[in-house]
Amino acid sequence: SRRYESSPSPSSIPSSWHDDVSLVTVNDVSSSWHFNATLAESIRKDVLRFLDPERDMFLLQREVKPGVRIPYILNRGHFATVTRTVHSLLPSAPLLHGRRFATCALVGNSGILRGSHCGSEIDRHDYIVRCNMAPVTPFKRDVGIRTDFLTMNPSILPRYYGGLRNATLRDRFVARLRALGKGIFWIPAFMVPPERRWVDAVTDLIAHEHLSLHPAMPSLRLMHAVRGYWLSNHVDIKRPTTGLLMYTLFTRFCRQIHLYGFWPFHSDTEGRPVPYHYYEVMSYSYYSRSSPHAMPLEFQALHRLHELGALRMRTQACT
Ligand code: CTP
Repeated sequence: SRRYESSPSPSSIPSSWHDDVSLVTVNDVSSSWHFNATLAESIRKDVLRFLDPERDMFLLQREVKPGVRIPYILNRGHFATVTRTVHSLLPSAPLLHGRRFATCALVGNSGILRGSHCGSEIDRHDYIVRCNMAPVTPFKRDVGIRTDFLTMNPSILPRYYGGLRNATLRDRFVARLRALGKGIFWIPAFMVPPERRWVDAVTDLIAHEHLSLHPAMPSLRLMHAVRGYWLSNHVDIKRPTTGLLMYTLFTRFCRQIHLYGFWPFHSDTEGRPVPYHYYEVMSYSYYSRSSPHAMPLEFQALHRLHELGALRMRTQACT
């Protein structure tokens, strides 16, 4: 299952893709951009050598039984039991099977989006992916409102929803889920043992509310395979961020991917401070001290792909 260990040799991506990653500076984010369909297609095929997002993005009901114990993805010495509730929520078939979109927006959560006026541009894409249940309504002008695919890192429950300990907090959480309509709600469950209680709290709640969303969880091999893909391209990350993970997976479904809200730096190109998230005043330095991620390194890789035309990264205001 740890396919990256027997990974294919480095990819078909042009060597310039990774050779000069270290030369990229945050000051040269240009606004002129041309789509390089050949490179985008080559990346899509290359990702497929490590994983098939269509299959690996969704743990299916038939792949686990209620009561079975499975290893935590990032803590393999510990095991999680699949509850009946979790099992009942898993899809019976891959949710994005055969889907192809002309353009997708992948919205990261950086404060660079504040004042960007990118909302209507984001909402015009065919498919819209957002991370970690970031709020949208009060920030509509800058981030848009539509969401087709929403991720939820379980750690946000104690941080932003008081661990769902009372009816008001639960209602706020359920309201956010209702706004997703029939979209996909993707929970990277079974990562590490301490998050287990939050996974159970969310799955219990989804099972009891009448929501039209489609809950989903990743297959157990997904994270390792995604990491393997980036390692083979000399992007040495211990654990991909949700944003990088989503870019990698959606290469399968989207012809063009446009990134918004990816800016893991404490100031913008004019030297103005940029909060870590667009929806709260947390500084980037607070975050970077405690994170398992290598966001600036990821940014350099994604920005290089922007320069080569494989993806479009928006870091300036939209006009
Ligand atoms: N991001 C970014 N710059 C920031 C904040 C976020 O590039 N200042 C991108 C990252 O790829 C991140 C994604 O936007 O994964 C979603 O942001 P967030 O919810 O803040 O992710 P984290 O909780 O920080 O990290 P993760 O869920 O990846 O563990």
